Amino acid sequence: MAVNRITKENQKLVSISTYFVAHNTTMLRLSTLRSRAPLSGTVRALATSADAAATPNRVHGGLKDQDRIFQNVYGTYGHDLKSAQKMGDWYKTKEILQKGDKWIIDEVKKSGLRGRGGAGFPSGLKWSFMNPPGWEKNVGPRYLVVNADEGEPGTCKDREIIRKDPHKLVEGCLVTGRAMNATAAYIYIRGEFYNEANILQGAINEAYKAGLLGKNACGSGYDFDVYIHRGMGAYVCGEETALIESLEGKAGKPRLKPPFPAAVGLFGRPSTVTNVETVAVAPTICRRGGEWFASFGRERNSGTKLFCISGPRQ
Ligand SMILES: Cc1cc2nc3c(=O)[nH]c(=O)nc-3n(C[C@H](O)[C@H](O)[C@H](O)COP(=O)(O)O)c2cc1C
Repeated sequence: MAVNRITKENQKLVSISTYFVAHNTTMLRLSTLRSRAPLSGTVRALATSADAAATPNRVHGGLKDQDRIFQNVYGTYGHDLKSAQKMGDWYKTKEILQKGDKWIIDEVKKSGLRGRGGAGFPSGLKWSFMNPPGWEKNVGPRYLVVNADEGEPGTCKDREIIRKDPHKLVEGCLVTGRAMNATAAYIYIRGEFYNEANILQGAINEAYKAGLLGKNACGSGYDFDVYIHRGMGAYVCGEETALIESLEGKAGKPRLKPPFPAAVGLFGRPSTVTNVETVAVAPTICRRGGEWFASFGRERNSGTKLFCISGPRQ
């Protein structure tokens, strides 16, 4: 079990960033957890049912089916374009794109969405770093890099999205890419996800064929390409700058920051690395509104969230 020891001096409010916590038989991937430290001793990095009493404002369950973003996570329907459209994907995407970068980013800011890749940084703010004043003068390609490395032991949420709801990710690339004024998305997928990469490529091909990607994507006047790159199974390649190095064909070793990827990223161009789930929820947030997403969850950690549980469980 991952534990952080704290001293008496910093016992008030501690921020614990951890990538995973193995708790007895359950292993959960976890973003940043802010927790009130007990008066002394050891702080667990993961809230458990024992902590629920200390946070009585927490509401469990009650999520209506129509409010579930990933409706096909149990594979009830197909993962093809037609099935995806029946579930509401690719609906009014053209209109969303035409509302422009600022509108999409404002909606994501309103939603309170935080990155689902681990650090929990506010997504709208992060994406806005791609559009500093005068960004247009830096002419050339700009990239959205989707982190589908999912190398954390016991985690499988991104894999399930790609397997069952690949169009949510493909449409998400387009909407998130529009927000960042990106010209293309590279999806860096964990090498072991061979079948998932095939499913995803199938969804990308369908989207190109239907005119949803490529030149004049969805008839919006915006050009956008999506590529898949298969990784080679190195855990460190999930770290954003190591991932960029690996995408460039080098050994996956982290870069020193600054410069940050939004300034100098993939192939030296402005880029932002974002997790699969973060990207995949963007179209639904734009369709239903940031306030809808913000109405779930808790203060400063709003929205719905996909969890994965692996190993023996009760
Ligand atoms: C060693 C290491 C491994 C990581 N692995 C992943 C990963 O598999 N998937 C992921 O999305 N983020 C991973 N991250 C976090 C990324 O560096 C990055 O913060 C994240 O992809 C940003 O996406 P977000 O803004 O949507 O959260 C890892 C970070 C470190 C330091």
